[in-house]
Amino acid sequence: MLPKILVVDDDRYTRTLIEQLMRKSAQVHLAENGEEARKLFDAIDFNLVLMDQRLPMDKGLELLREFRAQRPKLVAILITGFADVRDAVAAVREGLFDYLTKPFEDLEALEAVIGKALEIDSAYREIDSLRARLAIESGAPDVIGQSPAMERLLGQVREVAALDTTVLLEGESGTGKDVIAKLIHVWSLRSSKPYLEVNCGGLPESLLESLLFGYEKGAFTGAGQANPGYFEKAHGGNLFLDEIADMSPKLQSSLLRVLQDHSFCRIGSTQPRSTDFRLICATNRALVGEVKAGRFREDLYYRINVVALSLPPLRERGDDIIHLAVHFLDRYNSKFGKQCGPFTPAAVRALEACRWPGNVRELQHCIERVVALEPDGVIDARHLRPTCGEQTGPGTQDSALSLPALAYQDARAEFERDYMRRLLEAAGGNMSEAARSSGIPRQNLYVRMKRWGFVTD
Ligand SMILES: Nc1ncnc2c1ncn2[C@@H]1O[C@H](COP(=O)(O)OP(=O)(O)OP(=O)(O)O)[C@@H](O)[C@H]1O
Ligand SMILES: [Mg+2]
Repeated sequence: MLPKILVVDDDRYTRTLIEQLMRKSAQVHLAENGEEARKLFDAIDFNLVLMDQRLPMDKGLELLREFRAQRPKLVAILITGFADVRDAVAAVREGLFDYLTKPFEDLEALEAVIGKALEIDSAYREIDSLRARLAIESGAPDVIGQSPAMERLLGQVREVAALDTTVLLEGESGTGKDVIAKLIHVWSLRSSKPYLEVNCGGLPESLLESLLFGYEKGAFTGAGQANPGYFEKAHGGNLFLDEIADMSPKLQSSLLRVLQDHSFCRIGSTQPRSTDFRLICATNRALVGEVKAGRFREDLYYRINVVALSLPPLRERGDDIIHLAVHFLDRYNSKFGKQCGPFTPAAVRALEACRWPGNVRELQHCIERVVALEPDGVIDARHLRPTCGEQTGPGTQDSALSLPALAYQDARAEFERDYMRRLLEAAGGNMSEAARSSGIPRQNLYVRMKRWGFVTD
């Protein structure tokens, strides 16, 4: 279904322009004044409102405040003339998505801003529906993902969760293997039974062995009393062995026997005990390569590689980046009692351009840092540095031959920010002087300086 946009402007030209621009990708509703706008807003759940500041009977910003009282997460863009800069800044401070200045010079940019606003709206909606779903499926981890790659994966997870097969999760570090393992448990028929997880790379061999197999009293020095292991405790449920590639050769062969026989002996005992758990394994190294290199038993590999699910890296997950960013923004705002956000269009672009070598975990830490350290209010591209700034791609500055790694829009934004900073420095902070030397009209310059955070009210 197409998203619904409300355009409120008394100027017929502006209304028609936006309608024509968005007609193919959205259902556009038009209102000439506040009264018409209120009626439409009451009747339709809009994904985005574009509101002119100067209406015949109303002030656009006041009207948007009214709308937001009804729907706090409404995504809106205020359309202003150059004379209304203060309102525009106030609007963004209050958490509206953005403002646009009339007349619109660059239609592509206009379309891009509207597109981003719609993405933010869909992120808010997804998170709300996720919350509702979680209330039903309690215990399920938050899993954000509506990119085609993640939708495919989640479909596979649903299917295999209900089957009793062993699952191998492969993916770069931070892509969400732990989260998916937990989801398999929650969605499985064993969800009311235990879920146990252990990181095979994090423990010395003997400790891991006693944790998995358990031991009898006196089995080794310090074994004061008998202790059941995870193979026993996970009976009826799911056992998650994380970083399976790090398991020692000795434990690999012990595990193979357990999987073949569905039974094991506690350390210090020769009495076999039967067990019934479903195994989920994860690795961030390609297990085939480990087999070839002789570090992982081939027979064990075939045992655990019954259904292999591959987690896509974040950089291949398109819109998920923004959805995850909004999700983490929400989470850390409530955790730290802050009101950071929303993201500016430049911030959205910076998030999307980043390579995220540490995947979702890195994005999560980036947003946590911003919310913890920055004051309340909009999050701009500059707040996301150094994480996003440094990784927009290799060879950005120093190789004249390679293609620029930044998208044109980002490169232009980068240039403008740098230019504005140096201009203001050269003019000793004097705006009139800066306007004179740059040839940019003062009012226009003020808006741009504001946008980059170089001047405050
Ligand atoms: N789809 C997602 N939605 C929400 N949060 C996610 C998602 N995927 C990952 N996360 C979060 O990102 C962080 C890293 O995820 P996780 O620990 O599952 O990654 P991993 O693939 O197991 O990493 P490693 O290989 O380093 O063990 C966690 O805090 C997790 O909650
Ligand atoms: Mg993990």
